[in-house]
Amino acid sequence: MQNSHPSKDIKGGVGSVLEGKKICLCVTGSVAIIQSVYVVRELMRLGAEVYVVMSHAAQELVQPALFEWASGNPVVTKLTGKIEHVALAGKTENNCDVILVCPSTANTISKITAGIDDTPVTTIVTTAFGSEIPIVIVPAMHSSMYNHPILKDNIKKLKNYGVKFLGPRIEENKAKIAHVNEIVNQIVAIVKKSKIKDDLRGLKILVAAGPTREYLDGVRYITNPSSGKMGVAIAREAILRGADKVTIIYGKGSASPPAYENVKIVNVVSAEDLVNNITNELKNEKYDAFICAAAIADYMPAKVVDSKIPSRQEELNIQLVPTPRCVESARETDSNIFICAFKAEFNVSENDLIEKAYSRISGPKAIANMIVANDVGKQKRGFEDETNEVYIIDREKNVKHIPLEMKDEIANEILDQVVQKLKQKNKDDIW
Ligand SMILES: Cc1cc2nc3c(=O)[nH]c(=O)nc-3n(C[C@H](O)[C@H](O)[C@H](O)COP(=O)(O)O)c2cc1C
Repeated sequence: MQNSHPSKDIKGGVGSVLEGKKICLCVTGSVAIIQSVYVVRELMRLGAEVYVVMSHAAQELVQPALFEWASGNPVVTKLTGKIEHVALAGKTENNCDVILVCPSTANTISKITAGIDDTPVTTIVTTAFGSEIPIVIVPAMHSSMYNHPILKDNIKKLKNYGVKFLGPRIEENKAKIAHVNEIVNQIVAIVKKSKIKDDLRGLKILVAAGPTREYLDGVRYITNPSSGKMGVAIAREAILRGADKVTIIYGKGSASPPAYENVKIVNVVSAEDLVNNITNELKNEKYDAFICAAAIADYMPAKVVDSKIPSRQEELNIQLVPTPRCVESARETDSNIFICAFKAEFNVSENDLIEKAYSRISGPKAIANMIVANDVGKQKRGFEDETNEVYIIDREKNVKHIPLEMKDEIANEILDQVVQKLKQKNKDDIW
């Protein structure tokens, strides 16, 4: 546990969310190992101490010196009398907060499933199971390897034992490892929790996130500054809490949607596009809940000019018409789904915020079952911020106030309410 290595001068340079946390990064014999170096560095920039463990096959691909440079810590290449597996993953005072196998070969996944531990990596994972340290596996391999039915079964089995799988991204006929920033985001989400809830198992969740673009002509559009962070956080937390499937209908946001295998990402541009995709999803698959966190434009140009409107005209009048209604269309398509809507206001009193939001879910025209209200006019509660303050309101006008918090925590609070309502529904069978 040295602190003096010059490579550690980047620690905490980007943030402190992982300060005091120890990540054990296990690398195996996949060419995606080159990405792991960036994972180490990004985790360190958020304050983490990273300890790298290499399988023998990984050492055939790169030298341990690369990871010693990257992490500033000695690399475990074999188990010795120091019982490195117990030090890092045992029930010890200084053990790691999470075991991240990235990249993981097909071989390592299947060995872990069979309970075999004959490499430094598999022994670390075996030990972590016994000490209940969260295990995250990021697979990488050719799709022909990934499509092996036994491997698929093994992944399913490990998921049932609580192992989190991140990715893969299927690209160029390969099951590539998830993007570095996505891996880092997931590790942050896991490390921040002492225990991950598993209460969305068996459920399918549809999420709308990000802004929409309403084109005036070929090059110009109306939009808003939504980053998609809130909806992406909800999708990520839903997967971490065991949801069977999460589909994100995603406008042009800047946040990276989670790269888990059971996440379907549908990229959309306009409000019309978004609404059409939501109704298609609801027609084709039975979802348990729809959470509409997208910042959908309320108006769109009545007609889109199929070229570029000439510049520098004296005046330009554009007629705007309302966009298709998202929550209404979802309800028309599925009368039984639980719908959580969002309502953003700008610089209003707390009372006005709650009343305006509640009016959307009360009375005979009520469509959504729950609504999340926030004031984007207040500092640190805006579209692009990492934080938010919300009021979660149900049809009985129960109001749960979540003071200023990181968006992933807000996402968890929203999901707590969704789970509670879904449980009630199973009991009573009506909303
Ligand atoms: C250049 C090279 C690239 C490889 N890439 C992968 C890969 O991406 N995924 C995989 O599952 N196996 C890959 N393999 C095969 C594994 O290295 C092999 O199955 C090995 O036994 C894995 O051992 P380990 O899981 O202990 O690291 C690759 C092998 C070589 C030589």
